[in-house]
Amino acid sequence: MPGVITMIRPRPVPGLGCNAYGQEEETLVLDVLRRKEPFRYYGLNPQSPPPMVAQLENEMRDSIGTGYALAVTSGSAALEVAYAAIGLGPGDEVIVPAWSWVSCFTAIVRVGARPVLCEIDDTLNLDLAELDRLVTPRTKAVSVIHYQGVAAEMDKLVLAAHRKGLFVVEDCAQSLGTTYQGRQVGSWGDVAIFSFQYNKTATCGEGGMLVTRDQRIYERAVRLHDLGNYRPYHAAIAAPREPAFSGGQFRMSEISAAVMLAQLRKVPTIKAHCRALQSRVLAKISGLPGLSLRRVPDADGDFGFEIYLLLDDADKVAAFHAKLNALNVNCGARTGTYGQYNREYVKTGLAHHPALSPFREFKEWPAPGYRAEDFPRTEALTKRWIALPLGWLYTTEDADYIGDCVVKVHAEVLG
Ligand SMILES: Cc1ncc(COP(=O)(O)O)c(C=O)c1O
Repeated sequence: MPGVITMIRPRPVPGLGCNAYGQEEETLVLDVLRRKEPFRYYGLNPQSPPPMVAQLENEMRDSIGTGYALAVTSGSAALEVAYAAIGLGPGDEVIVPAWSWVSCFTAIVRVGARPVLCEIDDTLNLDLAELDRLVTPRTKAVSVIHYQGVAAEMDKLVLAAHRKGLFVVEDCAQSLGTTYQGRQVGSWGDVAIFSFQYNKTATCGEGGMLVTRDQRIYERAVRLHDLGNYRPYHAAIAAPREPAFSGGQFRMSEISAAVMLAQLRKVPTIKAHCRALQSRVLAKISGLPGLSLRRVPDADGDFGFEIYLLLDDADKVAAFHAKLNALNVNCGARTGTYGQYNREYVKTGLAHHPALSPFREFKEWPAPGYRAEDFPRTEALTKRWIALPLGWLYTTEDADYIGDCVVKVHAEVLG
């Protein structure tokens, strides 16, 4: 009978891309191993350079719809490269959501610029109104994070940021495959990054990608990720115009790219699976009194791997969590995303050398703008939510069970 829980189902396994590993990943990795060519720029055959990283970049560029794509070793590396590629350094400020992943903050500090934290809204992404409050003559960029498969309102954000002369850095680490108004995330900003780390919609364990339409950003990013080099491979894509400068070393290996290439091709299938599950759960739980859902600006583009329940009453959240857990429903804030103001590296305000800290001008630390009390809306929102993950190994029975459990727990806690 619908809505009646007759037995407790086993706890389904979360996880997205890696749970869809199969023959396709194995074939491409074996190809690299058998050719004995793990390095992207050259191998045994000078006539035919290794193909995996190059092919991954081509398919990313084409699927996102940007002119250029550059593979790197992680999403964090991609962020550092992106900020340096747009020319940020000491004295510059970047507006970034206070609720975000570690490197959303640290990548800005690493290039010597200052992260300026802003509130999120009920989309759980950046609150557009914050741009008016926080822009100063030093602001050079805004970092838009598409939190857990749901796109921010990019049309409005890009317009507002560009009117103020700011770069839009799109952080799509958690949202490869998400669209907004029919366009892939990553195609809206001036530069965008993706992460291929284990928890992501598609993964090779560790890896990242930078995409852009801007040739200058691409050229600078290539130099930044490869010790300042600009090799003939890249010159054939875009002739160099910039003088050489020192870069880091964030090159992706052919083995990572082989796994990631197979994964990238599966993203539409993984998304369709998640969305089908999500629809089943939403059909059961939408409209329950006192239970709102995360506002999703474009529901058609949602990847569908997480549903956010927002309770009016923060005190009831713990009881809701506990009861869902007792029924073996995975739930929680499982993303490792934080209020940055609570993190140790923000509380100290340090960089690896005191002279490099972008906060050294402040007389007192933590200064206003870097303390929990400065973010009342973010604090209130993040205490009210319950995250329900879905994943590749979840079945339609799991989705129906989750929906029924939410209805039952809702009646017990809020009824
Ligand atoms: C929003 C966001 N940005 C950047 C990153 C960094 O990606 P990586 O772990 O590949 O360095 C993550 C990782 O979870 C993330 O969630």
